[in-house]
Amino acid sequence: PRKIFSGIQPTGALHLGNYLGAVRRWTQLQNARDDVTICIVDLHSITMPHNPPVLRENIFEMAATLLACGIDPAKTTLFVQSAVLEHCEFNWILSSLTTMPRLAQLPQFKEKSRTLRDVPLGLYVYPVLQAADIMLYKATHVPVGADQLQHIQLAQHLSRSFNSRYGEIFPVCQALIEQNEASRVLSLRDPSKKMSKSENNPKATININDAPDVIAEKIKKAVTDFTSDISFNLSGRPGVSNLVNIHALVTGQSIKSIVEEAKQLDTARYKERVADAVIAHLQPIREQIQMHLAKRNELIYMLEIGAEKARQTAQQTMSDVKQRLGLGTNA
Ligand code: TYM
Repeated sequence: PRKIFSGIQPTGALHLGNYLGAVRRWTQLQNARDDVTICIVDLHSITMPHNPPVLRENIFEMAATLLACGIDPAKTTLFVQSAVLEHCEFNWILSSLTTMPRLAQLPQFKEKSRTLRDVPLGLYVYPVLQAADIMLYKATHVPVGADQLQHIQLAQHLSRSFNSRYGEIFPVCQALIEQNEASRVLSLRDPSKKMSKSENNPKATININDAPDVIAEKIKKAVTDFTSDISFNLSGRPGVSNLVNIHALVTGQSIKSIVEEAKQLDTARYKERVADAVIAHLQPIREQIQMHLAKRNELIYMLEIGAEKARQTAQQTMSDVKQRLGLGTNA
């Protein structure tokens, strides 16, 4: 049976990239009766400068948002990373199996460390903790957006190294990346880049809980080009193509039929159509988020049940790992 694991940073609201590239897939996998575990990775979030009260709120907001998107705690194990101590413990052990040059070349590290004067060790070790997340649950499949591929490859490498030194206990996981354009939703301000929370311009990302007029405004201002008709050509016309792509993903229509229907429209009119479709798709989710957020005690309870389930698996793995490494005194 497939064991699915994925994680998401508690950044508060999801943006459309997280949602279309990853979260929507998780709900499909969960409903296909796979064994799914989803982790809100708060320990990863402190590798960049952060504000503690905001982080705490963002954890709840992320939990509410995942429920609103259709994650069902009766089917999926949903928990907060820091509630399961084994993530840190295993991170330490795996860091002894990793070399510094291997981490230094990872693209996400290179990108983020460029913006900082002093680079925290945590940012450097970040992908090792991510491998620990995956391996603790012996995941076989990891559904992520295209930007996470190198991190998954590190997890594969660490599983192989562990297995060859200490015995075959970890499956070598496989990344599940959407084969369509959902794997890479682009920034609305700079379509040469992916849509990302870390971009400074708030107009670059659509958040899943943005109010309808905010969504309409962001799409209206989306950077396109000087050609006014609508066509799909990601390399030649990334801005317009990204809108067509988003439009297709939220309506379930094919890119071809979207382009066909937009034949008579210029970019300005077409943007209104895209905005309407995005607003309509996100409206029910937005309402559900508010509903779940208002019941904080239920969220706390649900996350504790999730952590308890996760702990059982994580503790089993760690006890096996320590045994094999000769750690401690337990024979
Ligand atoms: P994070 O929190 O940045 O993003 C969560 C998920 O959203 C995907 N994603 C996108 N997909 C398509 N287009 C985009 N523009 C876009 N932006 C983000 C990401 O690929 C991701 O799947 N390091 C991870 C979190 C993590 C994790 C793990 C993932 C920690 N431990 C273990 C898998 C397994 C991260 O920062 O994702």
